[in-house]
Amino acid sequence: MNFTKEFTALASITESYLEGYFNQLLKEVPEKKLVESMQYSIMAGGKRIRPVLMLACAKMLEVPIEEIMPMAAALEMIHTYSLIHDDLPAMDDDNYRRGKPTNHMVFGEAMAVLAGDALLNEACELLLKNALKAGKQMESTLEAAAIVLNAAGKDGMIAGQIIDMESEGNAIEAETLKTMHRKKTGALLKASILTPAVYVRADSSTRKALTEYAECIGVAFQIKDDILDVESCGTELGKPTGSDAKNHKTTYVTLFGLDKARQMLAEITEKALNAVKPFGDKAWFLKEAACYIASRKN
Ligand code: IPE
Ligand code: IPE
Ligand code: MG
Ligand code: MG
Ligand code: MG
Repeated sequence: MNFTKEFTALASITESYLEGYFNQLLKEVPEKKLVESMQYSIMAGGKRIRPVLMLACAKMLEVPIEEIMPMAAALEMIHTYSLIHDDLPAMDDDNYRRGKPTNHMVFGEAMAVLAGDALLNEACELLLKNALKAGKQMESTLEAAAIVLNAAGKDGMIAGQIIDMESEGNAIEAETLKTMHRKKTGALLKASILTPAVYVRADSSTRKALTEYAECIGVAFQIKDDILDVESCGTELGKPTGSDAKNHKTTYVTLFGLDKARQMLAEITEKALNAVKPFGDKAWFLKEAACYIASRKN
């Protein structure tokens, strides 16, 4: 059971699915520029942590990963749209993402807005078409799709982005910062863990443990992102460092300092590990993923 090997295998299954999906769109859709813009960002080489976690969680729950793949791809499309919009001049105004010029630098701002919109739309279409094909599982597939869409919207990622934008230049409270992280980043990561659990109608104790784990790694992921923004180098990160300082963001680092932020990251990682203890060895990948999130270099 090798974590890096399994991560790479699940990420490459995701890559192949997305590659096939967008090549097909390129053939079918008359608006080639739009599809090229969507494809540019989605195939730019992200870590694919959300689909990887979704597929790994499915494996742990003994769900065939082919049944989960469309939902994992939809989540990655939504995540990618959130990045395209996050980089726009109206938001973080960054020009580098996934090791390449950002979408608006290549295709222009209007196309970047529309490519983001279209990725969200595509994700919804994929989720619904997948549910229509699910036969007896249609209801639980729709419930799982609702988890993904709810996490992306006004209760989740977008809500967090709003708090982020409104807090620029203001010294926000620790509680607000935690809520921001829980929503802007935690929500999609939580959805990646809960989607297979809802799909397979896992029992309530399983869902409770997975929810606790997912909430911890979700916040941990953004604390680490805040740390990397000050201590990494752009080439390794694939996106600019110092973006938060440039935009006068309040982050775990600005509010608590680097050492305390690292300590809080270690504590929340420990909490995530404890949450999945009841699963024993079956949760090996989730345990290693929590440690990876805290120690990752990009
Ligand atoms: C970046 O997410 C945005 C945050 C939520 C911090 P990732 O670090 O997962 O970005 P990619 O998908 O690997 O590019
Ligand atoms: C954004 O957080 C999270 C999203 C919902 C896209 P950041 O603005 O810190 O993400 P990066 O650092 O640009 O990837
Ligand atoms: Mg941002
Ligand atoms: Mg940003
Ligand atoms: Mg960041």
